[in-house]
Amino acid sequence: MGIFSGKEVVLGVTGGIAAYKACEIVRELRKESANVQVILTQSGAQFITPLTLQTLSKNPVVMDMFNLISESEIGHISLAQRAHLLLIAPATANVIGKIRGGIADDMLSTVVMATTAPVLIAPAMNTQMYASAAVQENLAVLKSRGFHFVEPGEGELACGTVGPGRLADVGKILEMARNLLTEKPLAGKKVVVSAGPTAEPLDPVRYVSNRSSGKMGFAMARAACRMGAQVTLVSGPTALPDPPFLATVRVRTAEEMFSAVSRAAEDADVVVMCAAVADFKAKKSASVKIKKEDFDYRLELSPTVDILETLGKKKGKRVLVGFAAETDDLARNAREKMRRKNLDAIVANDVSRADIGFESDDNEVRVFFPDGEIRELPLATKDGIAVGVWLALNGKLFRR
Ligand code: CTP
Repeated sequence: MGIFSGKEVVLGVTGGIAAYKACEIVRELRKESANVQVILTQSGAQFITPLTLQTLSKNPVVMDMFNLISESEIGHISLAQRAHLLLIAPATANVIGKIRGGIADDMLSTVVMATTAPVLIAPAMNTQMYASAAVQENLAVLKSRGFHFVEPGEGELACGTVGPGRLADVGKILEMARNLLTEKPLAGKKVVVSAGPTAEPLDPVRYVSNRSSGKMGFAMARAACRMGAQVTLVSGPTALPDPPFLATVRVRTAEEMFSAVSRAAEDADVVVMCAAVADFKAKKSASVKIKKEDFDYRLELSPTVDILETLGKKKGKRVLVGFAAETDDLARNAREKMRRKNLDAIVANDVSRADIGFESDDNEVRVFFPDGEIRELPLATKDGIAVGVWLALNGKLFRR
C-alpha cells in the first residue's frame, strides 16, 4: 500500500501555462491510488479543459462556487473537510495573493480557507513576477502561517525569460506531497544510508563491481526522509537520480564510500549500510589502459576496508545497521555478520530469488536483532519494505 492509497487529494489548478502539467500530477496521483478531486479556476480553464482533468481524475471537476449540482454533491465545505491534502499546482501570483489576503471569491480560495488539511503550493510564474516584492512578501507570510511550498525551478520559461519561476518538477511536487502525508516517527534523527555498488578501478577504463542497483538503499533514504529524519545518502555509481529533500553524496570506490560515510556518521544517530561494497580491489590500479596483448597480465587483489566493521569498533551511542545479501544459509550468515561487525540489527534478503533480487522493485526481508528477535517483512515494493524496516528499527532501537 502506497502513501496516497485511500487518501483524498484536492488539486487546485490555476491559470498559468504550466496548467498542462497538472495532467501528469493527476495521473501520478491516480497511479498511486489517491482519490483526486480537481478544482479548476476560471483562468485555469483558459489553459486546460475540465474534460481532460475529469477524464484523468475520474471525478467531476469543480469550477463553480454556486453550481447547484456540484454544490449538492461536493460542496466547498465537504471538499475542504474530506481532503487529506490540498495541492495547488500550478499556483499563480494571483491565487497566492488571494490566500494571503483572505479573499474567498471562488471555489479554490474558499476551500483553502475552509480546510484543516495541509496545503502545498507549487508556484509557477514569470521570473520578474516571482521576484516582485508583493509575491515574495506573500510567500513569506504564507510560510509563517504554515503553508507548504515547493519552490519553482530555474530555466527558460514559456514567456522567454530565463530564471526561477518554472513549476517544480512533478516528481519533486509529489515527493513533497508524500512527505506531508507521512507520520514523523524519525523526527529529530540524523540518518546516514549507503546505497549501490562500489566500483574498484583496474585501469582508467575498467573496474570491478557488482549487480547492486541501489534501489533498496535509495528507498531506505527516501522513507527515512518522509518519516522526518535528516538524511545523508552516500551512493556508489547507480543510474538513479538524487532523491529530493535530502543530501546525496556520490562516490565510486569503497575507500571513497568509507570517507563519506565516516564523515556523515560523526554526528549521526543511525548508520544503515545498504551498499554492496566491493570486497576486493586491484592491489595496484594501472595508470594507463591495459592492452589486450598483455595477456599474461595478472590481476592481484587486496581486500577493501570493511566500513561497518570499522564503525562497529568505536560505535558509541550510534545505531549501526547492516544489510546481508545472501544466496544460502541466510539466517546463520546474517547473524554471524551482525556479531562480527557489532551491529544493532541486520536486514537479510535472499538474492538468489529472481523476484526480489538486485534490479527488482520488490523485496522480502528478515530483520535480525542481537537478542534473537526476528521481524519478517513479506514481499512488497522496496519502498514498502523500507518503511517496514524503519518501523521495526524505531520500535526496537530508538526508544531506549
Ligand atoms: N560492508 C561494509 N564494508 C565492506 C563490505 C560490506 O560496510 N567492505 C557492509 C555492507 O554494506 C552490509 C554488510 O557489511 O551492510 C554485509 O555485507 P556483505 O557483503 O554481505 O558482507 P561481507 O562482510 O562482505 O561478507 P561476504 O561478502 O563474505 O558475504
